Amino acid sequence: MAVFSILFLSLFVFIHPTPSASDLHHHHRRRIHPPSIKDEPSSSDLIRQACNATRYQQLCESSLTPYPNRNPMEIIQSALTVSSDNLREAQSKVQSILEAASGNINQTNAAKNCIEILHMSAYRLKSTADALPRGDIKNGRAWTTAGLAYQYDCWSGLKYVNDTKMINETMSFLNTLIGYTSNALSLMMAYDVLGDQTASWTPPKTERDGFWEAGGDAGGAAPQLGVPAGLKADVTVCKSGGCDYSTVQEAVNAAPDWGYGRRFVIWVKTGVYEETVRVGLSKQNVVVLGDGMGKTVITGSLNVGQPGISTYNTATFGVVGDGFMASGLTIENTAGPDAHQAVAFRSDSDRSILENCEFLGNQDTLYAHSLRQFYKSCRIEGNVDFIFGNSASIFQDCAILVRPRQLNPEKGETNAVTAHGRIDPAQSTGFVFQNCLINGTEEYMRLYYSNPKVHKNYLGRPWKEFSRTVYIGCKLEALIAPQGWMPWTGDFALQTLYYGEFGNSGKGSDLSGRVTWSSGIPEDHVNVYSIGNFLQGDQWRLTSS
Ligand SMILES: *[C@@H]1O[C@H](CO)[C@@H](O)[C@H](O)[C@H]1NC(C)=O
Ligand SMILES: *[C@@H]1O[C@H](CO)[C@@H](O)[C@H](O)[C@H]1NC(C)=O
Ligand SMILES: *[C@@H]1O[C@H](CO)[C@@H](O)[C@H](O)[C@H]1NC(C)=O
Ligand SMILES: *[C@@H]1O[C@H](CO)[C@@H](O)[C@H](O)[C@H]1NC(C)=O
Ligand SMILES: *[C@@H]1O[C@H](CO)[C@@H](O)[C@H](O)[C@H]1NC(C)=O
Repeated sequence: MAVFSILFLSLFVFIHPTPSASDLHHHHRRRIHPPSIKDEPSSSDLIRQACNATRYQQLCESSLTPYPNRNPMEIIQSALTVSSDNLREAQSKVQSILEAASGNINQTNAAKNCIEILHMSAYRLKSTADALPRGDIKNGRAWTTAGLAYQYDCWSGLKYVNDTKMINETMSFLNTLIGYTSNALSLMMAYDVLGDQTASWTPPKTERDGFWEAGGDAGGAAPQLGVPAGLKADVTVCKSGGCDYSTVQEAVNAAPDWGYGRRFVIWVKTGVYEETVRVGLSKQNVVVLGDGMGKTVITGSLNVGQPGISTYNTATFGVVGDGFMASGLTIENTAGPDAHQAVAFRSDSDRSILENCEFLGNQDTLYAHSLRQFYKSCRIEGNVDFIFGNSASIFQDCAILVRPRQLNPEKGETNAVTAHGRIDPAQSTGFVFQNCLINGTEEYMRLYYSNPKVHKNYLGRPWKEFSRTVYIGCKLEALIAPQGWMPWTGDFALQTLYYGEFGNSGKGSDLSGRVTWSSGIPEDHVNVYSIGNFLQGDQWRLTSS
C-alpha cells in the first residue's frame, strides 16, 4: 500500500507540476467560463497551438495547463518552470541512489556523475529563464540545449547500473524530465525561428527536412575568434622552482570564483605535468598559456577499464567553467593498449577558445561535450570516435590525424573521426570543420599504404539520433573511404542525422561513392555554419555571472 501511494504520488508529480495557489485559481476560473470568441486565442488554444511545436505534445499540454499562459513567451517560461521543478525532484532521487549505493562502486560513480551534471543542468536552465526576458533567445537555446543533454547523460549513466527498483524508477522519472526539457527547447526554437504567431508553429525540423536557419553574416567582416595576444600572466606554474605553483591544478584553484568579468591567466612553463586537471563551474574565464605544443605537456592515463571510472571521468583535463581559453599546450591520455575510452580533453565550457593546442589519445581523445566551443589551429590525434560529444563546435585550420591502434596496428581497423551525439532535433549543436586537414600520422600512413584495403577511415558516425557534422573547405586525404561516413549500428539515425560536405579537396573528398544518407551542403546555406551564425561568436564577451 505504501509503495502504491508513493508510485501514485510520483505519477501525479509527472503530470502536474505543483502550481502556485494563484495559478490554480486561474485554472479553475477558466474552466468555469468557456473561452470567449475574440481575436486573442484563449490560454488553452494558445497552449494547443504552441505545443504543436514540440515532440511530446500531450505531455506539453498537460504540463502547461495549470499555468497562466497569456502569450508565447509566458508559455516558454512555464515550460522551463515545469522542467526546473522536475529537475529538482530528479536531483533528490539521484541523491537517494547515492545514499543507497553504499559500497557499490559503479552505482556510486554513476550517482556522483549524475549529481554533478544535473547541477550543471539546473544552472543552464536558470540562466535561460533569466536570459529570455532580455530577449536573449539564442543564448537561451544554447543553454537549454546543454541542460537537456545533461539530463540525458544522467539517464544514460544509470542505464549501466540499473539493478535496483529505485534506479529503474529514477530512470523513468528522468525520461519524463527529458520530455519536458525537450518541449521547452522546441518552444524556444519555434519562437526564434517561426516568430510569435503560435498558429504557425510546427515541430523542430533539421537540414534533412530541408530546413536551414537564417544564414547571412549581418554585414561587415565575418567575426573571428582567437586567444588574445599579449595576455599578462596572473600566476606561473613550473616544475623547476621559482614559480607560484608546481601543478596546473593548484593554479586553477587560485582563480577567483565566478571570475567577475576578468580573466585569470595561468602561464604553464615548458615541462611535463602528470596530473588530472579540473576547472569547475565557478572557475570562469580561466586562461592557460603554455610554451607551445610538445613543450608544455599535461598528461594522464585514466580509462574506463579502471573500477568506477566512466568516459566522463577519464579526461586528463576537464573544463566546465565558461569562457575557458588555452594556447600552446599538449594534452594527452596515454592509457595503455586496449584501454578503450580514454579522454585527453573534455569541455563543457561555453564560449571557449582553444588555439594552437594538441590533443593526443586513441579512442575518444577529444570530448567536446556541450555548449559552444572554438578550436583554432589545433592538432587532434586518435583513432576510434576521437572527436565526440554533443557540443556546437567549430574546428578551424586544424590538423586531424588518425594514429595507429595500439594493438596489432598492421591488422587493419575501422575508425570514425567523429561521433557527434545530438539527441534532439531542437538542439543547436553540431561539429563544423572549416579549412582543416584530415590525414593520418606519418606512422599511420605508412601502415595505410602498405595495405589500404584493411585500413578504413570515415568522417563520422552517428552516436545519437540527430548527429550533425559538416566539413567545409577541408583537405580530406586518401585515407578517407569513398563512402565517407559509416553507420553506428544497422540503420540507426540514418534518416535523422545530417552529414554535410562543401568545397573540400583531396583524394578523400570525391563525393561519387558517398553513402546515400550524406549530403552536399547547398551553397546558399554554408554560412549557417559560420562563427557568427553557429556559435554567435560575434557576441562572445567576457563571462561575468
Ligand atoms: C498543428 O499543426 C497541424 C499541422 O501543421 C495543423 O493542421 C493543426 O491545425 C495544428 N494544431 C493547432 C492546435 O494549431
Ligand atoms: C562495475 O563494473 C565493472 C565493469 O562493467 C564490472 O566488471 C564490475 O563487476 C562492477 N562492479 C560492481 C560492484 O558491480
Ligand atoms: C521499471 O519502472 C517502470 C516504470 O516505472 C515499471 O513499469 C517497471 O515495472 C519497472 N521495472 C522493474 C524491473 O522494476
Ligand atoms: C532496468 O532494468 C530492469 C530489469 O532488467 C528492466 O526491466 C528495466 O526496463 C530497466 N529500466 C530502464 C529504465 O531501462
Ligand atoms: C598526409 O600525410 C602524408 C604522410 O605523412 C603526407 O605525405 C602528406 O603530405 C600529408 N598531407 C598533407 C596535406 O599534409
